[in-house]
Amino acid sequence: MIEFVSNTKFAPSNPKAEEFGEPLHLQKGHKSATTQPTYEEVSAKLSSAEQRVEALLNQYPVKQGALLEVLWIIQSELGWVPKESVRWAAKMCDCSPAHAWGVATFYTMYKHAPTGRFLLQFCQNICCHITGAEDIIQIAEKKLGIKTGETTKDNLFSIVRVECLGACGNGPVMLVNDDFATDVAGGELVMPTNVGLNEERLDKIIAWCKERAAKLKQEPKKDPLGGITGAVHGEPQSPDFAPPPPALGVKATQVDNGVSVVWKIAPEVTSLAVERKNGSKWEAIGNPGIKDKEFIDANGKAGSEYRVIATSGARVAKPSVEAKS
Ligand code: FES
Repeated sequence: MIEFVSNTKFAPSNPKAEEFGEPLHLQKGHKSATTQPTYEEVSAKLSSAEQRVEALLNQYPVKQGALLEVLWIIQSELGWVPKESVRWAAKMCDCSPAHAWGVATFYTMYKHAPTGRFLLQFCQNICCHITGAEDIIQIAEKKLGIKTGETTKDNLFSIVRVECLGACGNGPVMLVNDDFATDVAGGELVMPTNVGLNEERLDKIIAWCKERAAKLKQEPKKDPLGGITGAVHGEPQSPDFAPPPPALGVKATQVDNGVSVVWKIAPEVTSLAVERKNGSKWEAIGNPGIKDKEFIDANGKAGSEYRVIATSGARVAKPSVEAKS
């Protein structure tokens, strides 16, 4: 049996900021000279996010499991992830600052310095490389007058290089903030099938960004835990996108006082409903708590059929498999 051991045990009681080294990937990432805010400044700014973080942590049996999401919330609140905010995340998630720092610097999606309004993330991995990524990156650097890892003086553009974005067939590709962009069509950034970046399309994308900045004072705020996967401009994740996993292991057994229904659910589930079949229809017969492991249907009989519906926020899982008592 594998036992989960939290590295909280190894956390120094009063770790100092100097313990954090400079991550290697920053050589090609967000490296603008930045004044790091103090822990007090960071925690004051994040106080408005504390309630949301607490609600998130309540969904995890081990707080450390929510670390990635807490870092997303920080980035959404502050626009980047300062070093001391990583310590704040570690404190909230009950893990060591060193562990949180390792996580925060492993993923290039976390920004370790403020960036421009449009973060151009060019893929430099193999498929994009052989289809001309290096040329496109150099053209972008020349056009914007900055090098990789830098931000334009007007604070509009930053350039970073990233590894495979999973759109290899379109190479060379880039993300503009959270969205793929290899062209502009119908007034939107798009990535049509098999259409990669070239100089002409890059010009269109840069012009689109400038036009947007002239029209819109700032980018609409996205739900940091929804918009990421929804990848839709300015809109949170739609309720049916990536539904939570259904309740598993649903069993119905006859007991002295009716029928016992049991199940297992993922930590993200926020509410549950038990349904019993009545003819061809399903009827809700109870809403057990998310910590409950069993529901007794006092009116259940031999042959009654049950299913469990799990919900996470506004997202509803597929009904579980049906279980007959
Ligand atoms: S190599 Fe660039 S998207 Fe995969």
